[in-house]
Amino acid sequence: MKKTIKDFDLKNKRVIIRCDFNVPIKDGNITDDNRIIESLPTIKYAIDKNAKVILMSHLGRVKTVEDKNKNTLKPVADRLSELLNQEVLFVSETRGSFLEDSINNLKSGEVLLVENTRHEDLEGKKESSNDQELGKYWASLGDIFINDAFGTCHRAHASNVGIGSNLPNGIGFLVEKELDVLGNTLDNPIKPFTVILGGAKVSDKIKVIENLVTIADYILIGGGMSYTFLKAKDIEIGASLLDEDNINFCKEMLDKYPDKIILPIDSVCSKKIDSNEECSLKFITDLNKDDIGLDIGKGTVELFEQYLNESKTVIWNGPLGMFELEQYQNGTKKICECLSKLDSTVIIGGGDTAAAAISFGYKESFTHISTGGGASLEMMEGKILPGIDVINDK
Ligand code: 3PG
Repeated sequence: MKKTIKDFDLKNKRVIIRCDFNVPIKDGNITDDNRIIESLPTIKYAIDKNAKVILMSHLGRVKTVEDKNKNTLKPVADRLSELLNQEVLFVSETRGSFLEDSINNLKSGEVLLVENTRHEDLEGKKESSNDQELGKYWASLGDIFINDAFGTCHRAHASNVGIGSNLPNGIGFLVEKELDVLGNTLDNPIKPFTVILGGAKVSDKIKVIENLVTIADYILIGGGMSYTFLKAKDIEIGASLLDEDNINFCKEMLDKYPDKIILPIDSVCSKKIDSNEECSLKFITDLNKDDIGLDIGKGTVELFEQYLNESKTVIWNGPLGMFELEQYQNGTKKICECLSKLDSTVIIGGGDTAAAAISFGYKESFTHISTGGGASLEMMEGKILPGIDVINDK
């Protein structure tokens, strides 16, 4: 068991909380604040316990000066301040005397947000390469480190592993919940256990399939990646997405686990990826050379529902169609609807799957929607996440 924020006396201490505020921002406006909302319990707890709260997060990737100027956490400070109903002091620096003075002047119960940690990537990729000096420097600004950035736990960066290696540490409530629900379910799924995989590339899911195929009863495959599996069965997939390098992997899996891996039986196709282009429903063996499969069809939804209705545990990672375009949302929506009615443990992986489920109105319908795309995927791969590993046990 990892130490948690509750294991520390926070009173008058400088508590650095690493959050994942990597949220979508358009024209200075946050378009999805779910990650900020999910961080509130830990931040509020630290405020209530009279800590001097120092928040850190990355935002986007910073390779150029333009990225640096664009990727600022100022909108997050403003939103957070509204949600907390108190001032969040924003420091537009990641090091230096202004940051240090601002922290020294912080009173117990006050909150400060440090600028995007990846600004340190501009010269020498210091944040992303877990530069030792940077980790030590940031650690010197606090007394206790709390990692609550689940979405970043698969990265070994200065702002999580670096600080964590140099301070007494624990996890926050968000990370604790992710480990309790996702971690424990993967360790001990109630059977029948079904995994739904979608998304574009087989290569992104190889390790997940290798890890879960022996644990799960069924793996239902949709989305762009399903066409490589279909190709491996010598089915004509037209101009649908093909991951040429992984056809052999798909063949191997289908030969070894023919009754476990369940593929689409029909597809919503079009000749072009365009919202104005006509689409049609076809049996999976009826695709023409110029057809692009962009969603699972009605028959596949019904087939998948049969497996899901029997399942006691379901984990889903990857949308089942190109849900960004309205005419290809149906498969992903229908599976959300089916899962929302189950009396089973249902976990939705982060990233696109979470965004789709939330945008279709299913935020409260499942056991858990993960806040981490890459991080939840790596947990499904059976990997140890460095951001968790650095935290001491109780
Ligand atoms: C995410 O959005 O998945 C996390 O915040 C990690 O972001 P990254 O892929 O840029 O490291």
